[in-house]
Amino acid sequence: MRDNADELLLDVRDLSVAYESGGGLVTAVDRVSFTLRPGEILGLAGESGCGKSTIALALPRLLRSPAVITGGQVVFDGTDLLGVDDTAIRAVRWRDIALVFQNAMNALNPVLRLSAQLVDVIRHHDKVSAEQARERAGELLDLVGIGRDRLRAYPHQLSGGMRQRAAIAIALALRPRLVILDEPTTALDVVVQREILDELKGLQGELGFAVLFVSHDLELLAEFTDRIAIMYAGRLVEAAPSLPLLDGAAHPYTRGLLAAAPDLHGRRSVSRTALPGTPPDLSAPPPGCRFAERCEKAMDVCRWDEPPLLPLNGADPTHVTACHLYSQDSQEVHA
Ligand SMILES: Nc1ncnc2c1ncn2[C@@H]1O[C@H](COP(=O)(O)OP(=O)(O)OP(=O)(O)O)[C@@H](O)[C@H]1O
Ligand SMILES: [Mg+2]
Repeated sequence: MRDNADELLLDVRDLSVAYESGGGLVTAVDRVSFTLRPGEILGLAGESGCGKSTIALALPRLLRSPAVITGGQVVFDGTDLLGVDDTAIRAVRWRDIALVFQNAMNALNPVLRLSAQLVDVIRHHDKVSAEQARERAGELLDLVGIGRDRLRAYPHQLSGGMRQRAAIAIALALRPRLVILDEPTTALDVVVQREILDELKGLQGELGFAVLFVSHDLELLAEFTDRIAIMYAGRLVEAAPSLPLLDGAAHPYTRGLLAAAPDLHGRRSVSRTALPGTPPDLSAPPPGCRFAERCEKAMDVCRWDEPPLLPLNGADPTHVTACHLYSQDSQEVHA
């Protein structure tokens, strides 16, 4: 299964998540669909509050109250994870789907040595001897660039970068097939961030896991991912292979995000005013395109008719966007 590139590892269909608020439901993720093949790296980007972390947590069903999954399917390796019982979902978490969060390093247990934390995870899920688990823990620390000589270290004896690497080692301990990285290096300085991402990419090539990589940094995503999906106010508005997305973004929101990003490679001019305004209130989203109010290209239709996600006309069918500027005669698709 793992090696068959035609199989989908993950097929998220019309996923909706709401937060209970003041007796009502506020939909933070609204009918979002995307897929991941084995070993594929998909980036997920969009402004703060657009629903990225809500999706990251929804996939392995780690959302807590007041969040409620209100619709859709999360088909992982052929099984809808939203339809299985708690025992089955616990078996999938960490073994098949692992998560690394921005502050994952703070989730390390401060009073346990790294070896104990890694051995715990390994032995909790795998029937191996303590000796074998310690050996695997050492290998994992080597893999993430900490080195097995730090096995006996406590988290406070490590730098932030090392702690985040340790969190990555724990996530990889059971050889998951999907690793969800939610802003995994944002809290670190850029040099350490770059080092960790380069190593992660190397590990991904070696171990072959798929990655859902959440970041607001499109330049970073373009280097690290195969494809990028852009969210706006709970909806997916564009998705494409990474370089075509950077060089040929279609949705005015994606273009605005790119124009607002700091220019690292001389491709764009820096413009902090490229995206004036703020996303709509999710408790009362506008009826048409959610971006219309901020969009300089908005037409009348945009204010009342929500554009479906469609392939760009005449272009690569994997480049899809939800924008009336392009929607003419194709059918709605999954990203
Ligand atoms: N516990 C909560 N209770 C109520 N609303 C929430 C809760 N957590 C998130 N939300 C709302 O859900 C929406 C999506 O939040 P989410 O954290 O998924 O966004 P994000 O894209 O990850 O943002 P960021 O880039 O800031 O991490 C936001 O409007 C947020 O206010
Ligand atoms: Mg987030």
